[in-house]
Amino acid sequence: MFLLPTVLSFVLRLSLLVPPATSQHCKLNRESKRSVQQPLDPSIPSPSISRITNSSSTNSISPTGTSSIKSQPSSTPFVYGRDKVRGVNLGGWFVLEPWITPSIFENTGNDAIVDEYTFGQMQNRQDALRVLENHWQTWIVEDDFRQIRAAGLNHVRIPLGYWSIPLTSKDTQFSTDVSPYIAGAWPYFRQALDWAKSHSLNVIVDIHGAPGSQNGYDNSGQRTQPPMWASNQSYVQKTVDCVTFLAKTVGDKIDILEVMNEPAGFLGDDFTRVLRQYYTDTYNTIRATVGNGTGVMFSDGFRGLDYWGNSFNVPQYQRTSMDIHMYQIFSNLELSRSLDQHIEYACNLSQSFVGFESSNIWTVVGEWSNALTDCAKWLNGRGVGARWEGKWGATSDQHFFASCQGYTGDSSTFSKDLKDQMRKYFEVQIEVGERVQGWVFWTWKVRRCCDIPLGLLSETHYRLRTRMTGVIVKE
Ligand SMILES: *[C@@H]1O[C@H](CO)[C@@H](O)[C@H](O)[C@H]1NC(C)=O
Ligand SMILES: *[C@@H]1O[C@H](CO)[C@@H](O)[C@H](O)[C@H]1NC(C)=O
Ligand SMILES: *[C@@H]1O[C@H](CO)[C@@H](O)[C@H](O)[C@H]1NC(C)=O
Ligand SMILES: *[C@@H]1O[C@H](CO)[C@@H](O)[C@H](O)[C@H]1NC(C)=O
Repeated sequence: MFLLPTVLSFVLRLSLLVPPATSQHCKLNRESKRSVQQPLDPSIPSPSISRITNSSSTNSISPTGTSSIKSQPSSTPFVYGRDKVRGVNLGGWFVLEPWITPSIFENTGNDAIVDEYTFGQMQNRQDALRVLENHWQTWIVEDDFRQIRAAGLNHVRIPLGYWSIPLTSKDTQFSTDVSPYIAGAWPYFRQALDWAKSHSLNVIVDIHGAPGSQNGYDNSGQRTQPPMWASNQSYVQKTVDCVTFLAKTVGDKIDILEVMNEPAGFLGDDFTRVLRQYYTDTYNTIRATVGNGTGVMFSDGFRGLDYWGNSFNVPQYQRTSMDIHMYQIFSNLELSRSLDQHIEYACNLSQSFVGFESSNIWTVVGEWSNALTDCAKWLNGRGVGARWEGKWGATSDQHFFASCQGYTGDSSTFSKDLKDQMRKYFEVQIEVGERVQGWVFWTWKVRRCCDIPLGLLSETHYRLRTRMTGVIVKE
């Protein structure tokens, strides 16, 4: 168990260490040469609380005067604006990702099946449905929610594909046909909301896959170029209908409804114009449907927070957060950073996070990991190699940093040095997330199984690992 005890112990420690917002550096960056051990003293309030409370009066709730750090799960309700989001993503459950569950793809025997879209398209639908049903039933079970709570976390983020939202012809003017996607996850999703509640976990639900794909990545359900979502108003409006449906049917069970995951804002201003309107429309439909109780979350869409400055302000936008994702492995530039540079880069980000939040809406790091390479098998897509080994992209862009040997697979094969690096990188990013409203780690588990027939897989074969290095931890 490499990761989760780390989560808990550092959650407890770091909350006491957060320096004033004016600090230019992360505490752990300054002290990265020695391990930081501080006594627990719950009477010390987190300095960031008063700042956040004052920065956006109607978006905040008065602090009670002390921080809410407890070594036992709290039975008091989570208060946004006061308490820190400490969560984990339930990735690869309702939106398949080849790198998270490779065997589901390998067992098709068809290399052209690279995402959930082709999974439904290129094989017998009854066979595909049977595999998916089994996956929905077994990938995350109630005991996972118990373990997540026991690890000291207070949130889960549940990625959902639009194809799992059972719109009827009363809910939309557009076709309710989602093929080639295979519908059917809805009851399992409803079950997940109930499990979260019974284990005192708050829920962020995000639309991770939109019609036409919002980013072209396999994690949107469809690996495709160019992503079509913003190019077709029927896709956009149908997604608004999906959000309305979620608000209407489960809005009271969702703490935060994130209306879109990682839209491809890098495609330019035409795309972001559509996106801005979509954010306004979905905010309005959520408020019109469930009032002010449900939180709303937007994604920065890879544009950085500054891009969204003055777009969404309180008091107009109630209980609203911006989601920003923190990875440093998806380009050669990022991979070329030393550990100290990775840490410095993350610390630098915290300044922009704090600055944005102080004059806009709440900010949460909704995805991040302590991966230091992109070596995890198929992280860049089924059949695609790692940048780390110079096996990604056009030949002219390829750079060989090192072999992936020792950076992926079973964490027991990792050097002590690598584990130390990953631990520090983990800790510093928690600190960065807690400068604002908190963080949600990507992801709870992945499966490394591929030499085992699917039927033999049991819970003990599941592994938790980080997004990039392929840390695999026995549960
Ligand atoms: C909140 O901030 C404003 C200026 O931004 C300041 O005038 C006010 O005194 C602050 N209130 C508290 C309670 O700190
Ligand atoms: C937009 O999407 C709809 C539904 O898939 C489709 O019927 C229509 O042809 C698309 N329009 C364009 C311009 O691509
Ligand atoms: C939601 O908050 C806004 C702004 O404070 C307020 O005008 C509106 O009445 C509230 N709506 C409900 C349903 O409480
Ligand atoms: C962090 O910010 C400082 C000051 O702007 C800059 O000099 C430095 O290069 C940044 N570090 C990284 C890794 O980007």
